[in-house]
Amino acid sequence: MSIQKHDRRNFIKLGCAGASILIAWPLFQSCANENKNSDPLRLNPDFKPDLDIKLTAVEQEISILEGRKTICWTFKSELILGDSSSLQQIPDSYLGPIIKVNKGQKIRIRFQNELPQESIVHWHGMHVPEQYDGHPTDIISNGQTYVYEYEVMNRAGTYWFHPHPHGNTGEQVYNGLAGLLLVSDKEEGNLNLPTGEFDFPVVIQDRTLDDNNQLVYLDGGRMDRMMGFLGDKIFINGRPEQELSLKAGCNYRLRFLNGSNSRIYKLAWDNGEPLKVIGIDGSILEQPKVMPYVMLAPAKRIDIWLDLKNKKQGDEIELKSLAFESGMMNGGMMNGNNTRLPLGSEYSIFKIKMNESASNDFLLPENLVPYNKLDPTTAVNRNNPREFNFFMQGMRWTINGRTWEPTEVAKEETVKLDTTEIWQLSNKGGKMMGGGGMMGDGGMMGRGNEGGGMGNMMQMPHPIHIHQVQFNILEYDTSEMDVMVWNSIKDGFIDEGWQDTVLLMPGMKIKIIMRFSDFKGLFVYHCHNLEHEDMGMMRNFKIT
Ligand code: C2O
Ligand code: CU
Ligand code: CU
Repeated sequence: MSIQKHDRRNFIKLGCAGASILIAWPLFQSCANENKNSDPLRLNPDFKPDLDIKLTAVEQEISILEGRKTICWTFKSELILGDSSSLQQIPDSYLGPIIKVNKGQKIRIRFQNELPQESIVHWHGMHVPEQYDGHPTDIISNGQTYVYEYEVMNRAGTYWFHPHPHGNTGEQVYNGLAGLLLVSDKEEGNLNLPTGEFDFPVVIQDRTLDDNNQLVYLDGGRMDRMMGFLGDKIFINGRPEQELSLKAGCNYRLRFLNGSNSRIYKLAWDNGEPLKVIGIDGSILEQPKVMPYVMLAPAKRIDIWLDLKNKKQGDEIELKSLAFESGMMNGGMMNGNNTRLPLGSEYSIFKIKMNESASNDFLLPENLVPYNKLDPTTAVNRNNPREFNFFMQGMRWTINGRTWEPTEVAKEETVKLDTTEIWQLSNKGGKMMGGGGMMGDGGMMGRGNEGGGMGNMMQMPHPIHIHQVQFNILEYDTSEMDVMVWNSIKDGFIDEGWQDTVLLMPGMKIKIIMRFSDFKGLFVYHCHNLEHEDMGMMRNFKIT
């Protein structure tokens, strides 16, 4: 992040107050009036919320490292109506609150934008009407409020919220704007899973701070954006300490969110114990899935069962991100800002320190929640999946060769309400800048697929996310993938459950199945590498 940017922020922050002192009374007046009069909140009088929250995006200084405070952008929250346990703050963190809701509840969120930029909030993974989805065209400016009023229709799962203004999502999330939205339902309630302090959120992000303790974002320019931002330090729950204090003798539900802009993790316990996955994105799994490691792409969530029953006070375990081949950047020329913590290298995520011991009686059930996977024979296009190809063209990341247009929808992006469809997502190479180009060889070229034109192929992993729906995964086709890449990650994928984001590795094809129900309208699907999204790797789809 540049010094310029801070100057601009401070300037805007001081806009009203500062100017009024120096210049004139009328200007002060107009500022004050603007704040008061903009946006009379058109609350729906017939909507009776169970939970009513004010969520304000503000710039705030937070003590992150010793010394100077860090200027962050954060969601401040205030409970207007509802159970006080539905809103939980994380102390001294830039992260927003944890919002807890039950399926069937009605929630109202009054999002107030106090940022020096336009913004809008999106409820990632949630099934909501068009006007509450946080479409980029719904952005509001500084001082304005956007009201969301919807019923929670989703299954129990770990969801989250973050800004979604086109072009600035990466910057806004990076500066701190994100929070968890945890949904519970009856089926989950029957399982007697860990609650309270034993239901433990773990938001993993990467950040770079400069010598003045300020966040650094994309100082490498366009190439940094094309690759996606990588920070050089891992943050947990908006804090730089990579240490969690849990109790020996207890069982835990750890809810992981990869809230990073572009970093992919290969999560594993360093003592060689497998991970017990009990939930993914918008669902709890049918049965616990035991895995040596899990690939966690940006925006994805997994719920992990952690058994510390046989541990003693003073014991420690460590979660790591293991080394893997990402299919890019092996040559090193693209490392730019991230040489200290390259994607696919091995590093520590956090240590769990058991400073206390206690006991609880949460037990891991053998059977969790049946998920009734969609049946491919019920899809309207069962023999003819809708195809979406993600590739680079003319130095831009595209979807079927197109980039973001605020209201445009192509014919192939239009679907019908109350139908089930199969989509095939493919990560294909693309031509960059005619023969040879500036990338030379090595660097981020894909290797080994499609023979001949290899020197022109540029590929990267793309975590693909579709709004409005939760889908099932039907099939991974890895036949065109680099074998070394696939072998280094292949045991870390989960096809079960209801998901909203998939990691599409270079050369990979994934078939997914989804049903469009309840709401018509314009929704987006995009790469959740936030720099790719901001550069236009996002499109509308329309449910008619
Ligand atoms: Cu989490 Cu459209 O995003
Ligand atoms: Cu989303
Ligand atoms: Cu991407």
